[in-house]
Amino acid sequence: MAIGTAVADRFELIIVPRSSGGASFAQDVAEGLRSRPKRLPSKYFYDNVGSALFDAITQLPEYYLTRAETEILREWGWQMVRLLDGPVDFLELGSGSAIKTRLLIEEALRVQGRLRYSPIDISTEAIRASSMALVETYPGLSVRAYAGDYFDVLGSRIVRSERKMLAMVMGSNIGNYEPDEAHQLLTLLHGALRKGDGLLVGADLKKDRAVLELAYNDPAGVTAAFDRNILARINRDLDADFDPRKFAHVVHYDARRGSVDSFLKALGRSVVHVRSIGLRTSFRSGERIHTESSYKYSDDELEALGRAVGFRPASRWHDDAQLFGVYLFVRQ
Ligand code: AVJ
Repeated sequence: MAIGTAVADRFELIIVPRSSGGASFAQDVAEGLRSRPKRLPSKYFYDNVGSALFDAITQLPEYYLTRAETEILREWGWQMVRLLDGPVDFLELGSGSAIKTRLLIEEALRVQGRLRYSPIDISTEAIRASSMALVETYPGLSVRAYAGDYFDVLGSRIVRSERKMLAMVMGSNIGNYEPDEAHQLLTLLHGALRKGDGLLVGADLKKDRAVLELAYNDPAGVTAAFDRNILARINRDLDADFDPRKFAHVVHYDARRGSVDSFLKALGRSVVHVRSIGLRTSFRSGERIHTESSYKYSDDELEALGRAVGFRPASRWHDDAQLFGVYLFVRQ
């Protein structure tokens, strides 16, 4: 394909349906609200409103993660794309409209002139919009985007490349997985890659409780709004009658597990109906719904996780304040 071909020729979107074993939003909500303690999967935060609220979170003074990772990519991105002998294709879990992905794309284009970028994202609209913007900006870029759940897309075995791949799980996204799920996800990724391919992981480092808890509970209440939005989404998509104002956003760092856990805590007793799934559930005053775990790693823990699934640690970078780490692995 020639550089600078029409935008439409450089963008392909593949929609990957839920695999037969995969649960829907309705099923996950039903299961989570029937569990004790109650829980909701954090992956459902990201409807249009939730994605916009997350973008606002990344601008908060207390939420240092995005700035720290961006600092690392600005300083070391050139090295990240040169350490594997290329040319490479990018495979990213999450779709990068953001400045961070662009930094790596620009570095790769400097080295190799052309790049195929394959993002995987659960939100079809988000991935379509960010992919279109990317191909419009970079004439040397072609995008093959996969809309679907990470596990479904990687499990379907349609992600293949003739070229060397550099896979990326950035932004501390790995932190939202329980350790066994993170292990499963990296195992699937290992299966989609070949020997000598690369994997970049961005992870938030363990640190003082006060710093971590403030990052997930900003005084302006943006993170609280982000958390409560899951209830508004259930109201809208599943015909429910939650009153989000009757739930407080509560955050606790469990240092033993290394996880910042977020909860919605009922401010009084209530009964909630989720009509489309025929569910009626009651809340005690003070009862909590667990909405998110954000795991924090040490260098050793993150590298051990990679090693355990067949990735050899090759390089690591920190920001100056040692808040965040980016890790390069080579698939064995
Ligand atoms: C997008 C999953 C990395 O866990 O830090 C931000 C989401 N939640 N504030 C994180 C989030 C509350 C974020 N990740």
